[in-house]
Amino acid sequence: MQIYLDYSATTPTRPEAIAAMQAALTYQWGNPSSLHEWGQRAATAIEQARMQVARLINAPAESIIFTSGGTEADNLAIMGVARRYAQPQHIIISSVEHSAIAEPARLLEQWGWQVSRLKVDSKGRVDPQDLQAALQDNTVLVSVIYGQSEVGTLQPIAQLGKIARQAGVLFHTDAVQVAGRLPIDVAALPVDLLSISSHKIYGPAGAGALYVRTGVELVPLLAGGGQEQRLRSGTQAVPAIVGFGVAAELAASEMETEIPRLTKLRDRLFSLLADIPGLQPTGDLVHRLPHHVSFCLQNGDKEKLNGRNLVRKLDRAGIGVSAGAACNSGKPNPSPVLLAMGYSEKAALAAVRMTLGKDTTPADLDWVAIVLKQILQ
Ligand SMILES: Cc1ncc(COP(=O)(O)O)c(C=O)c1O
Repeated sequence: MQIYLDYSATTPTRPEAIAAMQAALTYQWGNPSSLHEWGQRAATAIEQARMQVARLINAPAESIIFTSGGTEADNLAIMGVARRYAQPQHIIISSVEHSAIAEPARLLEQWGWQVSRLKVDSKGRVDPQDLQAALQDNTVLVSVIYGQSEVGTLQPIAQLGKIARQAGVLFHTDAVQVAGRLPIDVAALPVDLLSISSHKIYGPAGAGALYVRTGVELVPLLAGGGQEQRLRSGTQAVPAIVGFGVAAELAASEMETEIPRLTKLRDRLFSLLADIPGLQPTGDLVHRLPHHVSFCLQNGDKEKLNGRNLVRKLDRAGIGVSAGAACNSGKPNPSPVLLAMGYSEKAALAAVRMTLGKDTTPADLDWVAIVLKQILQ
């Protein structure tokens, strides 16, 4: 029996997306910038995907810029704003950002920019008053992650965006873990820029999007042919974008049933694990991604407590989970996110994440709880 519980790292590409990608590879292989029929077939496929992705967040199609994924969308947001300025300015991020935001911010710092990192409480939440206090005359961008990938915490994005807007400062959110899992309505939400990734919503890896509110100006990171409204030069990856579009459309239509189903499964797993000695859920249990279970193990012997060891042992039992964020799994360092939330290094090294998805069943979770308890005994 094999059970995959790492849907925040990536999701299996859904058959409908694969079928659409296969058709795109076969019939829509033209260069979408070409004026002839081959090119226009590909261009039409991209425009359809743009509408599908736009509908997922209630955006106008022309505000969707296709990228290679969430990382590029995040980089385009941060650097695309920063490059508008000849002199270093000030940006605000949170202390629990994904590395796709934290690292570009560090680069800006090296280039003389000021970066404020908003602290979080023990549940990983930012206090909107701290944002208000951190704003300066030279603040040009605020970026706060919508749903935290390691601990599942949702931020008060509407409140944060409102504060930034009132101050006349652009607001970006990394919604890679939220898009397709919870409703997002950019017509109502005060955000200017928002990142999405295809492979988190059962589309292929290698596609993503940045929502850019009409009127917001960015300087592109790539110089070239001027594709994607001059914001992302390079011939578009038509099959990946087509698969992304199909995945976005299906995520939108399934959300109403998936949210309550996943929430119930998530809470079931938390309660199945509740009697494990020393197990402490991490993140906010109320403001939380519906598919996300995460915890630290705070007693027992050192070897068993290491999150990475636990991941390996569960893997041998056919269960795929993650120790903190997948992108960081190669590094033995404690998660900066948990440290920012006030956890000790030891606790942060004993962090485990189990993220649920389309194929997760109640029986899977019963089995995972049994296996985990056996390993810990
Ligand atoms: C919150 C968050 N932002 C950005 C990314 C990067 O997205 P991608 O893998 O599409 O580059 C991830 C991926 O784990 C993520 O969880």
